[in-house]
Amino acid sequence: MVPPTTPARSVSEADLQALLDHRLLFVTGKGGVGKTSLSAALARLAAQQGKRVLLGDLDGRGDLANAFESGPLSFEPTKVANNIWAMSMDTEASMREYIKLNLKIPMVGGVGPVASAFDFLASAAPGVREILTIGKYCYEVREQHYDLVIVDSTASGHIISHLGAPDALRELIRVGPLLDQTSWMNKILHDGDITGVVMVAIPEEMPATETIELRDRLENETSISRAAVIINRVLPELFSTAEEEVFDRIITGKQRAALVDHAGETVEAVLAGATFASNLRRSRTQHIERLFAEFAGADDTVVVVPQLFVRTEGLRVTKLLATALSEEL
Ligand SMILES: Nc1ncnc2c1ncn2[C@@H]1O[C@H](COP(=O)(O)OP(=O)(O)O)[C@@H](O)[C@H]1O
Ligand SMILES: [Mg+2]
Repeated sequence: MVPPTTPARSVSEADLQALLDHRLLFVTGKGGVGKTSLSAALARLAAQQGKRVLLGDLDGRGDLANAFESGPLSFEPTKVANNIWAMSMDTEASMREYIKLNLKIPMVGGVGPVASAFDFLASAAPGVREILTIGKYCYEVREQHYDLVIVDSTASGHIISHLGAPDALRELIRVGPLLDQTSWMNKILHDGDITGVVMVAIPEEMPATETIELRDRLENETSISRAAVIINRVLPELFSTAEEEVFDRIITGKQRAALVDHAGETVEAVLAGATFASNLRRSRTQHIERLFAEFAGADDTVVVVPQLFVRTEGLRVTKLLATALSEEL
């Protein structure tokens, strides 16, 4: 394990491969940390290895479309890249598919009756929406339609209720054929070689704290394994220690005035920018160190992904992040 101040290569090839060799990954973390982008980048990496990948979301917002610059996504998977299919969750469609596959009831009379039955069920029984969501992804794993299913998951707190949905339903029903439905799902969800949670953090106070709290909740409230922690948006080291001393001498010494004399006022802006970047990196280092201590210390796979300096979003970011991930190899 390389110390976090030089996080160019934080994870072994075997660890990264073990991550991609799961069958079902839930990518979670605080809003804006990079869940959607990294889900797409992981999919790309797996697809490059020849794996057939299904990418989906939990909230039905279809954000993954942006990462591939595809058209809008729906419940029916769309091919968005070589070996990658993407879908967006729709619990009602999931219910219809479930009924069709399991109960052999013909869908005559349109969706009206199903929709009202669904609304009734979903409001009467907690966990129904969640089970239809998680159930769909577990089903795709069980049927081996794909080699890897990656779920771009909602922010940390919600994931617990989704992952615990089969258990919640178990509590509710206790007997009957539906109970079998929770068993096969739990078999998939509770096998750490098959299913894992990827926790994404950025090196700031709150995201780091939430990641640690999520780890504790996963441990205490579910039987789901952690697959990896990704520390995203890590700033490059601007100066080495020796260079930093030189830089400090310049900005505090009389050379500074000489530089301004020589090259004009813009020197001040350049120095201010460099100072800002250098301070930001220093303040972020403590959070990286904290995450490393909490996770690498406990033998978790910790992957460091650099801050990209691009003005665009979408496919270009997906490609660059996949390259950044693979450079960990
Ligand atoms: N390593 C990175 N460097 C630069 N920008 C990034 C990086 N990771 C993600 N982003 C950008 O940050 C924004 C939020 O990322 P996103 O994946 O949508 O987060 P989330 O799904 O967690 O809300 C997007 O504009 C994305 O392009
Ligand atoms: Mg997102």
